[in-house]
Amino acid sequence: MESYRFWKTQPVTRVDETVETEGPIEPNRPASEIRQEPYPLPKDFEWAIVNVEDPVQLKELYELLSLNYVEDDDAMFRFDYSAEFLNWALKSPGWKREWHIGVRVASNKKLVAFISGIPAHLRVNTAAQTLVEINFLCVHKKLRSKRLAPVLIKEVTRRVNLEGIFQAAYTAGVYLPTPVGTARYYHRSLNPKKLVETGFSHIGRNMTMARTIRLYKLPTETTTPGLRPMQPTDVPQVTALLNSYMQKFPMAPSFSEDEVRHWLLPVPTVVFSYVAVDPTTTKITDFFSFYSLPSSVIGHPVHKHINAAYLFYYAPKGLGADEERTRGLINDALVLAAKENFDVFNCLNLMHNQSFVDTLKFGKGDGNLHYYLYNYRCKELKPEDVALVLL
Ligand SMILES: CC(C)(COP(=O)(O)OP(=O)(O)OC[C@H]1O[C@@H](n2cnc3c(N)ncnc32)[C@H](O)[C@@H]1OP(=O)(O)O)[C@@H](O)C(=O)NCCC(=O)NCCS
Repeated sequence: MESYRFWKTQPVTRVDETVETEGPIEPNRPASEIRQEPYPLPKDFEWAIVNVEDPVQLKELYELLSLNYVEDDDAMFRFDYSAEFLNWALKSPGWKREWHIGVRVASNKKLVAFISGIPAHLRVNTAAQTLVEINFLCVHKKLRSKRLAPVLIKEVTRRVNLEGIFQAAYTAGVYLPTPVGTARYYHRSLNPKKLVETGFSHIGRNMTMARTIRLYKLPTETTTPGLRPMQPTDVPQVTALLNSYMQKFPMAPSFSEDEVRHWLLPVPTVVFSYVAVDPTTTKITDFFSFYSLPSSVIGHPVHKHINAAYLFYYAPKGLGADEERTRGLINDALVLAAKENFDVFNCLNLMHNQSFVDTLKFGKGDGNLHYYLYNYRCKELKPEDVALVLL
């Protein structure tokens, strides 16, 4: 049994706790009661804001993460978020440079650890909560197991508290006290040959490579009428459509138009978004998006990366009531992702995703993704109750 030496000191739901009343665990505190100085680091290390608007520092962050961030259990693949992606993911409306927190070696200034927060708005059942999304926690491989992660977590918490925010949302593959929900990854092969060659997937029993390729072959054209890339003038309609669809789920973000502009307008090589326009009314009826997150294939002689697309936010016509419409929409996302040379299309079993994964030939992955809230008690949710997608 794990002891959670750090996490048991934090305002999070205990593993054995039965939640009766939902809400904050600790009350908000005035700035005067919040620690003013940064937490101490082990000697030889110093705090440093990573200025992602400086291409040199953005590249340093990219290199830290590309060599030291999340790997699968067998250490075959490692997330390889691009610099453009990080620049997008860390600069959503209201972002603060103080929340892009690095640790450097004092002597040579090498960046060896990072954690970030960005502001967001989340509804949990009927309660609306301003909070931060914590992401990209990373400690260099050579500095692991030295209790640096708890210092990073406490420091980001302190800096967020100083701005009057006392809640956070985060996800992790590891089990910590205590998930509000647990989702499962699903994977849809687009380039099965490469996925098999890299060991990402395997040819099924009684299958050949040729039959596998045929099984996953997609049409060359999309089928949803009036589908086109999202453009800036679509922002108000997409915001309204998406916020209505989000009402269906007990835990969901709410988006301002600025947030939709940031998160959902296409960014080349980073995020891809499409709308369907009704030809008679010219109104937007549906919307979907996916983002690009390659994984490095560790030590492979031929293939350096798997190009993975991840389903991001979407809102189908009729707000998901018509399952066939949703399936058609996501099938179009697969068609477009294949055209963009993605090797695999991933999603979690959140929102209405369970209704299309089998028909559209997604396979269940072996990774769990746990969802956590900091300083907020909430009854456990099923994955289909969750509509928050963290990058
Ligand atoms: C995650 C990571 C920063 C943890 O650092 P570490 O050197 O392994 O662990 P440390 O000795 O510094 O700290 C251990 C504490 O951090 C906690 N911890 C580990 N991973 C964590 C995570 N992803 N989120 C929050 N807390 C985490 C541990 O539970 C432990 O606390 P406990 O005693 O209460 O159980 C590091 O392993 C890493 O960079 N891994 C690769 C990237 C990654 O997985 N990032 C997290 C993505 S969610």
